[in-house]
Amino acid sequence: MLKDIDEMLLTSEKKRENLIPILQRIQQRHAYLSPDAMKLVALHLGISSSEVYGVATFYNQFRFHPPGKHQIKVCLGTACHVVGGDIILENFERKLGIKDGETTPDREFSIERVACVGCCALAPVAVVDDVVQACMAPSKVEGILLGFDIERERDEREKQESEASQ
Ligand code: FES
Repeated sequence: MLKDIDEMLLTSEKKRENLIPILQRIQQRHAYLSPDAMKLVALHLGISSSEVYGVATFYNQFRFHPPGKHQIKVCLGTACHVVGGDIILENFERKLGIKDGETTPDREFSIERVACVGCCALAPVAVVDDVVQACMAPSKVEGILLGFDIERERDEREKQESEASQ
């Protein structure tokens, strides 16, 4: 990843105003900004790492952890917020043991809050692996995560069966 970023920086002018476009390009290609990536950008632009980090954290478009295999986005736009979007976010966070913007240690799940996803009539809304989940409730959070557990167990069983048959 760092080699790729290094090469990408060769084509970017060393101007302070290029900071955000550079960070956006890195995130587009690698899905998040690692501390080492931010250090490389700082070095390239001749500014401090803390300045790069400060700018990146100011905008909520940037993420600092690699995304999980399953990406959970909880809408906290106005329509979702007023009908308990924050309770849905809190439920996912509690069940997965991570906070908004983080990824579980096994890299299975990541959670992020997002602004309006354009289907306010279905509020509160979550988008799980690009599928809109309408009228979310705590029991639905449990159901979604249980579905992933069942899927994972089935995959493991199939893998074991196929290994045993070889
Ligand atoms: S505010 Fe959540 S979909 Fe619009």
